[in-house]
Amino acid sequence: MVARPVRPGGPRRAGGFRQSDGGGGTGAGGKSLGVPRPVLQDRRVPHLDPHDPFAGVTVDPAVMRKQYRSEGLAETELAESPFEEFARWFIQTVESGLPEPNAMVVSTVDEAGRPSSRTVLLKSYDEHGFVFFTNYGSRKGRELAANPNISLLFPWHALARQVVVRGTAQRTGRDETAAYFRTRPHGSQLGAWASAQSTVVASREELDQRYTELAERYPQEQVPVPPEWGGFRVVPDEVEFWQGRENRLHDRLRYVREGDAWRVERLCP
Ligand SMILES: Cc1cc2nc3c(=O)[nH]c(=O)nc-3n(C[C@H](O)[C@H](O)[C@H](O)COP(=O)(O)O)c2cc1C
Repeated sequence: MVARPVRPGGPRRAGGFRQSDGGGGTGAGGKSLGVPRPVLQDRRVPHLDPHDPFAGVTVDPAVMRKQYRSEGLAETELAESPFEEFARWFIQTVESGLPEPNAMVVSTVDEAGRPSSRTVLLKSYDEHGFVFFTNYGSRKGRELAANPNISLLFPWHALARQVVVRGTAQRTGRDETAAYFRTRPHGSQLGAWASAQSTVVASREELDQRYTELAERYPQEQVPVPPEWGGFRVVPDEVEFWQGRENRLHDRLRYVREGDAWRVERLCP
């Protein structure tokens, strides 16, 4: 049993979530649908002076601590597949009104094993994996070409939750890339051409100049897909669902792939 394909970039299934290009997918209203809310135990961070952020204020991150209160996560309630469980959590996250619910941290490694991380937007997921789009010539694109091992992290702190995916990334087909590219706003399509992502550019003006030239060349729609731009599908070997609980005794349930099936194991927090 697997989840139906869910497209974070598409219309919201329950209540109006729509992911505009490049972010801003804020759900409406912030109403809670049974999603546990963490309780703020300690004082909030004091207001900082933007001109002198260190003046007279001592903010010690070590004392910032939230006490999580939640119903917990039981093995018996888990879906058969991590994709289905992810779908439940993703919908609850959207319903909670958390900004950018489809933002995830993607980590890759270079040839020397040095990791690098960055945020990207999940654009679709189903039983085949989690898809994001990027420039294949970017650092992440180059690193994945040499080493497809990848980690995704959904940092849903406000809900005292995180989901961590480990697996391998494979490029989406050109048809899938083109289908998604066509849904992007015209300006974002031009931006994909204008930016040789992760390369050094001499100035902001140079970037703006490239964009202006492209806007003159393609004043209307019909911007072709840049050859170096496309999707990655992350096929998981492991997916961990982390639920904050009281006294740091959090729930961590991890799906581990075993052939066509999934085994679930509980980890100490
Ligand atoms: C909220 C947010 C969403 C982003 N979404 C994407 C995305 O979907 N694709 C992408 O290539 N970069 C996205 N970025 C930019 C990346 O974080 C990163 O700067 C860029 O991909 C270059 O990364 P790299 O040099 O490590 O390859 C996003 C950044 C933020 C803060």
